Amino acid sequence: MTSKPYLTGHYTPVADEITATGLTVEGTLPPELTGRLIRNSHNPKPGITPTHWFKGSGMVHGIRLRDGRAEWYRNRWVHTPALDGAPYMTEKGPDLTASTAGTHVIEHGGRLLALCEANLPFELTADLETVGAYDFDGRLTSAMTAHPKEDPVTGELHFFSSSPFPPYLIHHVASADGRVLESQEVPGAGPALKHDFAITEHHVVFLEGSVTFDPAEHSGIPYGWNDAQASRIGVLPRGAGGAGKVRWFEIGQGYAMHLANAYEDARGRIVVEGPSVGRAGWQRSWNWWVGAPDRGAEPNSGSRSHRWTIDLAAGRVREEETDDLTVEFPTINDAFVGRAHRYQYALAFPDDLGVGNHTLVKYDRATGERQLRPVGTGQLPSEAVFVASADGADEDAGYLLTVVSDLNADASRLLVLDASDLTRPPVATVHLPRRVPAMIHGSWIPDADLA
Ligand SMILES: [Fe+2]
Repeated sequence: MTSKPYLTGHYTPVADEITATGLTVEGTLPPELTGRLIRNSHNPKPGITPTHWFKGSGMVHGIRLRDGRAEWYRNRWVHTPALDGAPYMTEKGPDLTASTAGTHVIEHGGRLLALCEANLPFELTADLETVGAYDFDGRLTSAMTAHPKEDPVTGELHFFSSSPFPPYLIHHVASADGRVLESQEVPGAGPALKHDFAITEHHVVFLEGSVTFDPAEHSGIPYGWNDAQASRIGVLPRGAGGAGKVRWFEIGQGYAMHLANAYEDARGRIVVEGPSVGRAGWQRSWNWWVGAPDRGAEPNSGSRSHRWTIDLAAGRVREEETDDLTVEFPTINDAFVGRAHRYQYALAFPDDLGVGNHTLVKYDRATGERQLRPVGTGQLPSEAVFVASADGADEDAGYLLTVVSDLNADASRLLVLDASDLTRPPVATVHLPRRVPAMIHGSWIPDADLA
């Protein structure tokens, strides 16, 4: 028996790969939901206890919806050399193909890519079989973030390579069809842990929190909180030569794992939103991730929604905590990436200040209201993925997809919620053939994107 929190309860790995067809649906699946919901999780092989939650081998879970039917569920490990035990560090340096590939899965340029930030992407087939490491035809020679950002207007993919050693930060842009157009080292960056970033219409935004390279950390992920490390926001103009114009602004100490979005407001200021933790929350979260004592009951402790407003002309940043729930996994309607969004979705974790159970949250920036959608005791919803409705004009016209791990019934279900009102009964519920472990990130991939 193991006591590692990331191998028990909702996070208990599954032991095998299965395919199930003809899934049971309650309610009515909208025919326009024709595509795949593909999600990623850390799912070590049976008998393996990773030293860190994030060192567990990646497993993708797919749910195929077509024309009102739930055609299949399947789960597959991402078959990387690391799954078979290949080490990341070799005599020649890091092996960028020795990846867990267990953080996220996206589509770009017609390719499905499983991502982990210390490695190259891994390409998958539409049936979730592993094709192999993908390096953009040789143009990518460093690790790729698990949180690339696709510009909804240009279709360009922005991403970065981060390393605890120089070059610390490289910003890349790929065309809509997947060709790397430019790769620029960002001056002034350091060995701070960078998991996510943001783009606006004219800028790229990086956050360096107070979590930085720590060679004494032996969990396999060599980072730790450092009081001596100031937190900073770096802003650079998009386009050729932009990295050389980066400006770094010091902010209050913290660590923002994920950013919901960023945009330029009517006064030209850059607004960045996302959950952020302080020292205590970081340490309780990290202790959960490595299974150490003094950990929180949940993988995320004390991460609260924040907003940073950067006034480039005045050289100032204003920082606000915008809500008192402990939240993570912020998502939006991706058509608003880099543009002013009104709605944001997140997963609230139970803690002494928050809700009693895991709860989906919808924030309305225009009214300042929040809407809660609890799913019940013993139930853990995954990050909520927004899918726009074809005939909806409003930003929240569409569906919110979440896979719920249900410990009471030892089962899982996909909930299709009406994103315009989370309190309504589900539009549809798809019953999965067994309990699916709690997952990290994933995407809805419409069929048109894989054509
Ligand atoms: Fe992430």
